[in-house]
Formats: sequence, structure tokens, C-alpha cells
Amino acid sequence: MNPKQRAAEAAMNYVESGMVVGLGTGTTADEFLKALGKAIKAGKLTDIRGVPTSIQSERRARELEIPLVSLVEAPHPDVTIDGADEIDPNLDLIKGLGGALLREKIVAQNSAKLVIIADAGKVVEKLGTRAMLPIEIVQFSHEAHVPFIRNLGGEPTLRRAKDGAPFVTDNGNYIYDCRFADGIPDPHKVEQALRTRAGIVESGLFLSMATIAIISDDEHAEVCER
Ligand code: A5P
Repeated sequence: MNPKQRAAEAAMNYVESGMVVGLGTGTTADEFLKALGKAIKAGKLTDIRGVPTSIQSERRARELEIPLVSLVEAPHPDVTIDGADEIDPNLDLIKGLGGALLREKIVAQNSAKLVIIADAGKVVEKLGTRAMLPIEIVQFSHEAHVPFIRNLGGEPTLRRAKDGAPFVTDNGNYIYDCRFADGIPDPHKVEQALRTRAGIVESGLFLSMATIAIISDDEHAEVCER
């Protein structure tokens, strides 16, 4: 079992029959979807309804025959299980390398519990040390935000798809990946500043949101609680 599968299997302990479950996006979350689909098929879990956090996780859930529901129909998922790109000691996160940050944050914010699953390589002392911070921005005059982000200490690069065209999110927006030399000095301050700016839709900073992180290597899955 690889670390992603191990973390995903451990996350199954947080799912019970009858629950509404937020379904994360990415390769680690995909391992969870597989485990969940298997448990439903085997009859070990019943009356599960999933809330997808992206078109990709919606498609995968359908393939795996996980019943789906929208946040409108089930506004308060019992738990969301999702991956992350960086996790600091407070369980603050950077997410969004897969481009699903906005829907991931919406589903997580409405969930009673956010459980993060990740391999040990995602753990950092300071956010922004390894991963770039994704920022989702509306297409209109997106370049106008570049100096604003630079003033916050980040160096933004417009994310591009394989064909070289700008990457477009499920919500029709662009993403700038922002490199902070020496990490993000004050993530709360950066998050606050980004919120004031019209046209900036969301950032990949998930602060004070995760209650549990399951960090796994080749042999163990460690449960960290906030
Ligand atoms: C998707 O937008 C992201 O937030 C993912 O949850 C994150 O990038 C982790 O992905 P992996 O599990 O593929 O590393």
C-alpha cells in the first residue's frame, strides 16, 4: 500500500453510514473515492451521499457509483475528505495545485469536519516553502492583479494548460501560482489582503479549517488533530 492509499484507508474511519461526505480532488482524494466506492459496493456503508469538489471528482464518483448530492440539497456535509499541497504544524494548508481550490473551500467551509489526507512529503514548517500559492482570478483584466500580488511578496505566474493556453478552472477563471521567497511570512495577512481585492476570487490558503490531518508514509498513518 503506498502512502496515499494508506492515508485514504485511514480516512474511512471518519465515514459512517448515512453521512453526507465532501469528496476532495486530486490523486490522494482519488484513493479515498476508490475506498469509499468499494465500501459502498460491498454493503459496508449504506445511505452515503457525496458532494463533489470539482468536475473531476464528480466524474470519478459517478464511475465508482457513489451517490451524489449538491450542497443545495445537503448544505452541511458531515465530513469532507481532501488532499493538500502543504500542511503546516497548525494544520493550515495550501491547496489548489489541481485547480479545484474554490469549490474545495466552499464544500470544506460548509462541512462539520475537514479531514486532510496526505503523504509525509506535504508537511512543512512554514506555508509557501515548497508549494506555490494558487490564486483564482476572474479573466477580466487579470494582469492588473500582478503588481498587487507582488506587493504582498509573491511572484505570480499565470497557470497554463498543456496546450499553452491559460488554464481555466471549473468556474471559468484563471489561476496565478505565486512563489514566495522563504515562504509566506504571514498567511492570515495575505489572505485578508486578497479578500479586499475585486476580481480575486479565492486563494489556496485554507487557514483554521482542517481539524484532522492523516499523514502517511510507507509504513504508518499518523493522525494529527488541531
Ligand atoms: C486540488 O485542487 C488540490 O487542492 C489537491 O487537493 C491538492 O493539490 C493535493 O493533490 P494531490 O493529492 O494530487 O497531491
